[in-house]
Amino acid sequence: MTSAPGVIRDSIFRFLSALERDATVAEISDAVALQLGSVTASSVRSYLNSNAPEVFERTARGRYRIRSDAEANVRHVRLNPAVQSGLAILYHADCFDWLASCAPNSIHAVVTDPPYGIVEYSEKELTKLRAGKGGVWRVPPSFDGNRRAPLPRFTVLNEGDRDELYRFFRRLGTLLGRAVVPGGNVLVASNPLLSHLVASAMANAGLELRGYLARLTMTMRGGDRPKNAHQDFPDVSVMPRSQWEPWVVLRRPLEGRVQDNLRKWKTGGFRRLSDEQPFGDVIRSSPTTRSERLIAPHPSLKPQNFLRQVVRASLPLGEGVILDPFAGSGSTLAAATAVGYPSIGVEADPKFIRLASDAMPKLASLRQIDPV
Ligand SMILES: C[S@@+](CC[C@H](N)C(=O)[O-])C[C@H]1O[C@@H](n2cnc3c(N)ncnc32)[C@H](O)[C@@H]1O
Repeated sequence: MTSAPGVIRDSIFRFLSALERDATVAEISDAVALQLGSVTASSVRSYLNSNAPEVFERTARGRYRIRSDAEANVRHVRLNPAVQSGLAILYHADCFDWLASCAPNSIHAVVTDPPYGIVEYSEKELTKLRAGKGGVWRVPPSFDGNRRAPLPRFTVLNEGDRDELYRFFRRLGTLLGRAVVPGGNVLVASNPLLSHLVASAMANAGLELRGYLARLTMTMRGGDRPKNAHQDFPDVSVMPRSQWEPWVVLRRPLEGRVQDNLRKWKTGGFRRLSDEQPFGDVIRSSPTTRSERLIAPHPSLKPQNFLRQVVRASLPLGEGVILDPFAGSGSTLAAATAVGYPSIGVEADPKFIRLASDAMPKLASLRQIDPV
């Protein structure tokens, strides 16, 4: 499937508008295939789901129709910046649509923390998270008197989920390869179970894999004794307790030599910490502080202490625009404002847009917190 996601949505939109009734995913896929050539039912289904309820409505299992006021939402999704804060603009949109329609060569670095499992930000999983039971989210046991933030449980992903994940990152890589200037860094938060998939999908989309950053932090993943057999195997933990978070480091291939690229596009390296100290790939970072979580209660909030270091380093000359296509609470944008860079964010969930609008100025004005 080579069509940009916005093209698929428009094609579904045209078909359902003309039909004036609901249709099955199979009928919709056939109609889209007639307009665009081959298309898989799973990409049509994921398109319907990611644009529901704003544009499409689910009428029964596997059946959808267009919302009567969808036209207004499509325009809203496409055009309106939701929030302007400091040096940042946040758009309320699906980032795949936004990336397909943004100007080519308009972004100088990407710093982002995407959804994994694709499913964890679905309404169903967020409802389970809010209800505190089951699903892909796991609430780690509290210890030292503190409640821990929930974590997505990536070991529940099956082969199909992994294929979908690969396609998701491949599509993302392709679209970023168009939006980002040559030499622009693309830094993607990941986890030790899935970083290989992200790296290979995005490299196969044409970006260049440049290594990994290690964010040293106690993630509360792993380290558990065998389930329902703790007492039988007291000396065993099933997986190592994870104490780092990998960030995949990619870039759009350079145009010419590093110095040519730096002159023409202002990209092609990392900003040094000082004359003596280059930016390093191991970054000590505490978990997100309580005060940040109170400002921005997003289930995947990243800490300012870490983001500011990474965002600052991502523009080698300190010039250009940062993009976070999965902006969440706007923490990357707040970090960019704090270090003096303009930035653009895209977030699909209106609840997180409201959260970000309140949180971004507060996060940006936090005094730099000690990294450890
Ligand atoms: C892991 S969270 C990012 C959290 C962020 N690092 C923070 O500190 O707040 C991923 C975010 O991407 C959003 N998202 C998921 N799919 C999206 C899409 N297709 N376009 C834009 N945003 C999307 C989710 O709603 C979620 O807020």
